[in-house]
Amino acid sequence: MAVLNYGQEKPGLIPFWAGEGDVPTPEFICAAASEALHQGHTFYTYQRGIPPLRQAVAAYLRRHFQVDVEPERVIITGSGMQAILQTVQALVGPGDEVVVVSPVWPNIFAAIHMQEAVARAVTLEWTHEAWRLDLNRLFDACGPKTRALFINTPGNPTGWIMDPADMLQVRDFARQRGVWIIADEVYSQFVYDRPRVTSFLELMEPEEQLMVTNTFSKNWSMTGWRVGWVVIPHSQALGQVYENLVQYSTSGVPEFLQYGCLKALTDGDAYLKSLVEQCRQGRDLVYERLSVLPRVRLARPQGTFYLFFQVEGEPDSMAFAKRLVDAANVGLAPGSAFGPGGEGFLRLCFAASHATLHAGVERLVTALA
Ligand SMILES: Cc1ncc(COP(=O)(O)O)c(C=O)c1O
Repeated sequence: MAVLNYGQEKPGLIPFWAGEGDVPTPEFICAAASEALHQGHTFYTYQRGIPPLRQAVAAYLRRHFQVDVEPERVIITGSGMQAILQTVQALVGPGDEVVVVSPVWPNIFAAIHMQEAVARAVTLEWTHEAWRLDLNRLFDACGPKTRALFINTPGNPTGWIMDPADMLQVRDFARQRGVWIIADEVYSQFVYDRPRVTSFLELMEPEEQLMVTNTFSKNWSMTGWRVGWVVIPHSQALGQVYENLVQYSTSGVPEFLQYGCLKALTDGDAYLKSLVEQCRQGRDLVYERLSVLPRVRLARPQGTFYLFFQVEGEPDSMAFAKRLVDAANVGLAPGSAFGPGGEGFLRLCFAASHATLHAGVERLVTALA
């Protein structure tokens, strides 16, 4: 936020700091929401989401991850952020601990702190070629007060993807210790150089202690809609807890928006595919230009739409990001904002259209040369 406040009024600044692209939601999705609005879908609605949308999430998960999730396990939330917050609220109380793989989107730490719980960060290791997680360090961080493991894979800001073999070990550890897994899978479609990623949903039984959070924001350029979803275990009691959390906060997601979301899920695969391809090309564009600079250290991200890179001689990412606002008129997010393990890095979002990416990266090349 500090860099954004510093630079956002600057004329001509190219912003790569936010986690979104620069095109509005596609017309077919807007039309479905608009039609529902005009048809009078303007009343109080189901707390857990309208049934056809919950069914469509289940169908989407089957189509893309070959996993069978009963629609009853799906709850529509007012954003991926709210899915995270309400999941933490449902599971974690004061004094509990949540072990979090870091660096990570900072709101995750904030959600844990809001419950007066403790976030224990386990940092990914940067090998200059890739990000790696030492599972022993993850497991050693779990103590008697650990209630959950929070894993965001593919991960913001690093682009790290957890190996399926590691996911199985984490699952076995969580089973044995009776801790929850909270899996944030909002970037599960944004993967490159491999057909797809594995979802924790594929590895666990419906009754097990797993919550998977997701969002409409990234897949269909819908960041401003504020709609997400969560898959909870098959449990009437927990479903009721979640429903209460929705009831006592927003009392549900506007019904006409849910019709737009339904359209995205049912007719949006082609758009999603083209967006991921655009991001893959965007990734290559920024990687090719920045990786040849002698002071820049980076790995080609395998997932998400972020490049998380280091510049030699620049350990203070906040000061450096502000200097780049002045020197290059480009907005990047400082790595220090992403918790332990992030300092010394900058995050660039490459979801923008290629013309904008090209213009911004050329400015960076000049400033970093
Ligand atoms: C890792 C991660 N999880 C969740 C979200 C939440 O997205 P939204 O609140 O827009 O649905 C984001 C957004 O940037 C994110 O990066």
